[in-house]
Amino acid sequence: MQSCEISADSTDDPLSSGLRRKRQPRIVVIGAGLAGLSAAKALLEGGFTDVTVLEATDRIGGRVQSVRLGHATFELGATWIHGSHGNPVYHLAEDNGLLEETTDSERSVGRISLYSKNGVAYHLTNSGQRIPKDVVEEFSDLYNEVYNLTQEFFQRGKPVNAESQNSVGVFTRDVVRKRVKADPDDTEAVKRLKLAMIQQYLKVESCESSSHSMDEVSLSEFGEWTEIPGAHHVIPCGFIKIVEILARSIPKSVIQLRKPVKCIHWNQSVSQEIERVADHNSDLPEENKGSNVFVECEDCEFIPADHVIVTVSLGVLKKRHESLFHPRLPEEKVMAIEKLGINTTDKIFLEFEEPFWSSECNSIQFVWEDEAESESLTYPEELWYKKICSFDVLYPPERYGHVLSGWICGEEALIMEKCDDETVAETCTEMLRKFTGNPNIPKPRRILRSSWGSNPHFRGSYSYTQVGSSGADVEKLAKPLPYAESSKSPPMQVMFSGEATHRKYYSTTHGAVLSGQREAARLIEMYQDLLQCPT
Ligand SMILES: Cc1cc2nc3c(=O)[nH]c(=O)nc-3n(C[C@H](O)[C@H](O)[C@H](O)COP(=O)(O)OP(=O)(O)OC[C@H]3O[C@@H](n4cnc5c(N)ncnc54)[C@H](O)[C@@H]3O)c2cc1C
Ligand SMILES: *[C@@H]1O[C@H](CO)[C@@H](O)[C@H](O)[C@H]1NC(C)=O
Ligand SMILES: *[C@@H]1O[C@H](CO)[C@@H](O)[C@H](O)[C@H]1NC(C)=O
Ligand SMILES: *[C@@H]1O[C@H](CO)[C@@H](O)[C@H](O)[C@H]1NC(C)=O
Repeated sequence: MQSCEISADSTDDPLSSGLRRKRQPRIVVIGAGLAGLSAAKALLEGGFTDVTVLEATDRIGGRVQSVRLGHATFELGATWIHGSHGNPVYHLAEDNGLLEETTDSERSVGRISLYSKNGVAYHLTNSGQRIPKDVVEEFSDLYNEVYNLTQEFFQRGKPVNAESQNSVGVFTRDVVRKRVKADPDDTEAVKRLKLAMIQQYLKVESCESSSHSMDEVSLSEFGEWTEIPGAHHVIPCGFIKIVEILARSIPKSVIQLRKPVKCIHWNQSVSQEIERVADHNSDLPEENKGSNVFVECEDCEFIPADHVIVTVSLGVLKKRHESLFHPRLPEEKVMAIEKLGINTTDKIFLEFEEPFWSSECNSIQFVWEDEAESESLTYPEELWYKKICSFDVLYPPERYGHVLSGWICGEEALIMEKCDDETVAETCTEMLRKFTGNPNIPKPRRILRSSWGSNPHFRGSYSYTQVGSSGADVEKLAKPLPYAESSKSPPMQVMFSGEATHRKYYSTTHGAVLSGQREAARLIEMYQDLLQCPT
């Protein structure tokens, strides 16, 4: 790709000349997701007046995307507010009267398997059998015990042994398998069912982690992700309301949609270039010539800035960091980007004319008996659907109609994204027929699904600490450039926020909000003298 030409008239100076010398610092925020909007809001409230938000897509919200169909709102991205007291998203929702109901926080392996209290999960096998309730309960208890053990590696600094390969998946599979096999009370048939269930639980867990499988998730770091106590809430009128509330306090003119950023020229690299190429009569406003940073947009506009807050996802950074920053990012930053993990978790909503499930069933969990002895879970392309771990029943039907919400992650989610609606709907229905033992389930009336993995503005759903990375890499990702210790150039030229930059709350909406506020606070502190006595 050709670089845009730097010309004097590609930058425009909104400030009158009298203000130029004493102008306010210019801050450009890249991305209008929760992190970017929270940063912009905090900057404006802190007294900054020259703030611009550049968003690649035609909407605000990023990985919060509520789709309204009929009377109901479906969440393609974030769904639950995890925890209450101290969760800024919860407080926003509560203060604005958005919360109607709670889903009990019975620990249900963390984040997505938040089966509502009304009803039970049906664990079905590929031979069309329902696994008896007592077997499911015994297995759940065992699994949760082992889940508790995974937390101890971080929380108590317990050393990881070589066999577990520092992976949650390897460790969990090994320990649960040993315990299942050693249980003298179970028949061989029950043992086989439980062995198959391990794989299904690990699929659910990796949908929650947004990893390809739990074999990629670091065991020693797993316990650092911190749960805020309290119930898990949904927002009946749509999670996007949170985004709209944040955006309400930001003047419309601040946010530019359909404005993808191509390259961030920092370290005065453009200024130097201008000095070198442009003749000194250029009508580029004098003060812009010295700008520390120039944000080059895909439409070839160059926007001068003193500070840029980058909120694009870790997936976008992985894919594009080489071309997105000029000069390139320091090695330490690149290492953090490469080591930390992000993969895809997608949702598949199927709307049926009539429910084929019983009213007490709140989810359908797919247990493949042939996977009892499998190690890692990677399938040939045509068997991508074996990675779908479950379908939740959306509740209440008066609000949602008869809708199932399915989960799939990893490589197989990317394959699903490439299929057309018809194929996905057909494949899912066939799977439901097989597992329920009911060959007469009609095709769904409607299908709606996400595609976070292949979307070039996201390249994944949310981050996790991959085997080989640690919380220290999250700190490195979050560190502003240039690094103070290695540079005499102006500080905080390029700053990083977004879900993946929060050490304890990564992968969440509250992590994103707090990370935006954190970067705004750095600038407010840096300019406290200026902000306290405005000119
Ligand atoms: C399927 C799914 C389910 C989830 N469930 C939950 C949940 O239940 N609870 C919860 O708390 N969290 C959940 N999350 C996570 C939560 O949605 C995210 O952590 C959070 O929304 C991320 O916000 P962000 O601002 O960091 O990033 P984003 O929302 O990704 O914002 C970054 C913005 O940058 C834009 N951008 C990218 N590249 C460029 C560019 N070159 N130029 C300009 N703009 C660019 C993007 O378009 C995007 O709008 C879920 C996420 C997914 C995908
Ligand atoms: C796991 O740990 C939690 C909190 O420490 C505890 O309440 C729960 O009973 C434990 N569960 C099992 C199955 O051991
Ligand atoms: C930034 O610019 C200075 C001075 O021109 C140079 O010494 C330094 O190496 C540059 N830093 C990077 C990361 O390019
Ligand atoms: C997810 O993981 C798969 C398998 O390792 C990989 O092919 C893919 O590129 C990853 N990334 C995303 C965005 O899903």
